[in-house]
Amino acid sequence: MRVLILGGDGYLGWPTAMAFRRAGHEVCAVDNYLRRRIAGETNSDALMSNPLLPERAALFERLTGLKIEVAIGDCCDRGFLSGVVQKFAPEAIVHYAEQPSAPYSMIGYDEARATLSNNLTATFNVVWAVLEHARDCHIIKLGTMGEYGTPNIDIEEGWIEIAHKGRSDKFLYPRQAGSLYHTTKVLDTDLLWFYVRIYGLRVTDLMQGPVYGLSTDEADLDPQLMPNFHYDDIFGTVVNRFLVQAAAQVPLTVYGKGGQTRGYLNIRDTLQCIALAAAHPPARGELRILNQFTETFSVNQLAERVARVGNGMGLAVAVESIDNPRKELEEHYYNPVHRGLAELGLKPHLMTDDVVAAMLGEVLRHRNRIVVERIRPRVRWR
Ligand SMILES: NC(=O)c1ccc[n+]([C@@H]2O[C@H](COP(=O)([O-])OP(=O)(O)OC[C@H]3O[C@@H](n4cnc5c(N)ncnc54)[C@H](O)[C@@H]3O)[C@@H](O)[C@H]2O)c1
Repeated sequence: MRVLILGGDGYLGWPTAMAFRRAGHEVCAVDNYLRRRIAGETNSDALMSNPLLPERAALFERLTGLKIEVAIGDCCDRGFLSGVVQKFAPEAIVHYAEQPSAPYSMIGYDEARATLSNNLTATFNVVWAVLEHARDCHIIKLGTMGEYGTPNIDIEEGWIEIAHKGRSDKFLYPRQAGSLYHTTKVLDTDLLWFYVRIYGLRVTDLMQGPVYGLSTDEADLDPQLMPNFHYDDIFGTVVNRFLVQAAAQVPLTVYGKGGQTRGYLNIRDTLQCIALAAAHPPARGELRILNQFTETFSVNQLAERVARVGNGMGLAVAVESIDNPRKELEEHYYNPVHRGLAELGLKPHLMTDDVVAAMLGEVLRHRNRIVVERIRPRVRWR
């Protein structure tokens, strides 16, 4: 297959590019380094340094003999993206190229506007590039479980049957996101559904939970091929922040009561899910929505787990509850369905103590680069 990876320099994009290439597909990775730019502007640089995309691709080629094409440019630039799609003629596009930080999108007008404009325009341009140059191409779009929020009923896989006054119909499951970033994902889904319905596109929208992990078969070939690892309040996920706090011997900061429950997955399973989605494209005119996570944890459960493993490794790990900078339910019902990817063949890599210990070991090797001031919340939902 010819697979175009948009956001190919990112945490998920780079490992995805390597995995598809090693599986024998032709791969082109596109990025404009937006993530690196925002990280620099907000004092949120990654723990380990990552070479730029062409350098990573060159190293990967030296080690494996396999070439990953690279195109540096902005997916919001219609001419650029349309040109890449026309030239590369992809059969699948994996669309990761968005501003993914909820706190960044909540800083103020400029950051909210930049997030809205980047994410919606990139998705819109992907749709039009496909309509114009690759009509049969399968768009695999990364959404988020955060689109659904935390409703007091079971979360279905994208769609819900509603019976109303004696009649019934199927609709997109109601979504109520908790940040402007997550709201751009809701809007993306609506945009894609419109173009699927009216223009017959072929789309998979993956509602992914927070991803953790640094190890993939290809990333393990060389430390310079590792995905980026952010641990700050802007880009760092709760798992990364806890790992770094444990390594730095400062208390793990639980926001509020810590009952916030979400679905998580190992980066190895993200790679499996994308590969499974690509190998089983939906029909033209179908928007397939899959909930992409393997197990659920509350923030308290994650803190307990990291503390237990850290203490077992000789660290002294404490847990502290701090004022929640976000507006969210801190105790709630959470029961999302996640059958679709399992039915396609997903074999989960769960978050065992060994997996946590391996991540913590990697962080400890870079402990001298930790800047603890980056971890506590600098952005509040107002
Ligand atoms: N990592 C997670 O836990 C997680 C969970 C759920 C959903 N997602 C989604 O998955 C996708 C990838 O996430 P990630 O963690 O790898 O984020 P990331 O920021 O590391 O990767 C996104 C990449 O896209 C690039 N990019 C953004 N806008 C662009 C544009 N207009 N043109 C070209 N490149 C652009 C960025 O520079 C970055 O390298 C995002 O859409 C994110 O919302 C991630």
